[in-house]
Amino acid sequence: MPPIRCLVTGCAGFVGSHLCEKLLAMGASVVGVDNFFSGHRRNMALFADHPGFLFYETCITATGELADILALHAPVQICFHLAAVVSVAWSMEHPDWTMQVNYQASERLHAVCREKGLGAFVFAGSAAEYGETGLAAIKEEAAGPDTVQASPYGRAKYLTSHLVEHSGFGASLRCFNIYGPRQDPGSPYSGVISRFCRQALADEPIMIFGDGGQTRDFIYVADVVDAYLLAAGLAGLHTTPLRGVFNVGRGSAISILELAGIVAGVAGSHIAPRFLPPRPGDIRHSLADVSRLAGATGFAPQVGIEQGLAATVEWMRSEATVQG
Ligand code: UD1
Repeated sequence: MPPIRCLVTGCAGFVGSHLCEKLLAMGASVVGVDNFFSGHRRNMALFADHPGFLFYETCITATGELADILALHAPVQICFHLAAVVSVAWSMEHPDWTMQVNYQASERLHAVCREKGLGAFVFAGSAAEYGETGLAAIKEEAAGPDTVQASPYGRAKYLTSHLVEHSGFGASLRCFNIYGPRQDPGSPYSGVISRFCRQALADEPIMIFGDGGQTRDFIYVADVVDAYLLAAGLAGLHTTPLRGVFNVGRGSAISILELAGIVAGVAGSHIAPRFLPPRPGDIRHSLADVSRLAGATGFAPQVGIEQGLAATVEWMRSEATVQG
C-alpha cells in the first residue's frame, strides 16, 4: 500500500480503536482525535506508542482545531469520522447536544475535509436513521426527509448521512448493531451484547427491556472495520473510495430473547433473564439489506454470532482478570 495518512475521529472509541489498530497494521499513519466522552484511553493501549500514530485530545465541535490539525499533518488523504454521541438512550435526554455533535459539527468537519482536498470521507452512519420499520430487510432508500426517527440520535445521524450523500463527497456507513471486544459494558447506555455478557459472567440475571421480541442485526466489530476499509478504497478489488450511503450489517437478525439465551450459553450462565419495562426511543425491528455494499465492494461479513460472542466473552473475562 502506498503511504496513506488518515484522520480518525473517535479513535479511543470501541470501533475507532479497532479501526486505528488495523490501519496502523496495514502501514498507514493515523492522526487520532478523541475527547474521552465515551471513549477510553485504555482502548488505545495497543497502538498509542506506535510510531505511525499521533493523538489529539479534542472535541469534534472544535472545527477550527480540526482544520489546524489537518493543515499541520497535510497531506491527510482519508477522514474516518466516527466521533459521536453514541447512545440512542442518552440522546433522548440530551437532544440538543446530540444534534450539535452528530450533525452540526459533523457537517462542518465534512466541509473542512472537502476544502482541504481529502480523497475520502467515511462517516459512521447508523441503522437508527431508518426509524421504525417492519421485519423485512431495510434498503438504503428507506430513509428519506420524511422518515420519523425514534431518537435524536437517529435524526442527527440521518441528517449527516443525507448531507454526505448529496454532497457527492464521501460515504456514510449505516452500521447496524456492532459488538465485540472493547465495547464498554459499564453504563446503562451500553450496547446490549456488552451488558448481557457482563451480566451473564457475573451470574446476574440478564436484563431484557420489554418482551425481548425486538430484533437486531448484530455485526462483529472486525467485519465493520473491513467495511470502513472497503469504503475508503483501502481493501478488496475496489480501490476508489465509495460515495453515498451503505448499510453495514450481517443481513440476518435475532431477537433479544434469543440473544440472551446464546450469551448465557457462551458464558456458562444458568440464571433466568429478567424483564424490565420497554426502553423509550427503542425501535422494534432492525435488519440490514447489505446488497448495495456487497455489490459495490464484495463486502461479506466473516464472523457469525456464536464466534463473535465467544471472542467478546473471552475478552471480558480477560479484562476482569486484569482489573480484578
Ligand atoms: C444501537 C447502538 C447505536 C446504533 C444502533 C443501530 C448502542 C449503545 N447503540 O442502538 O449506536 O446506531 O444500534 O440501530 O450500541 N436491551 C435490553 N437490555 C439491555 C440493553 C438493551 O433488552 O440491557 C435491548 C434494547 O431495548 C434494544 C436492544 O436491546 O431493543 C438493542 O439495544 P442497544 O444495544 O442499546 O442498541 P440500539 O438501541 O439498537
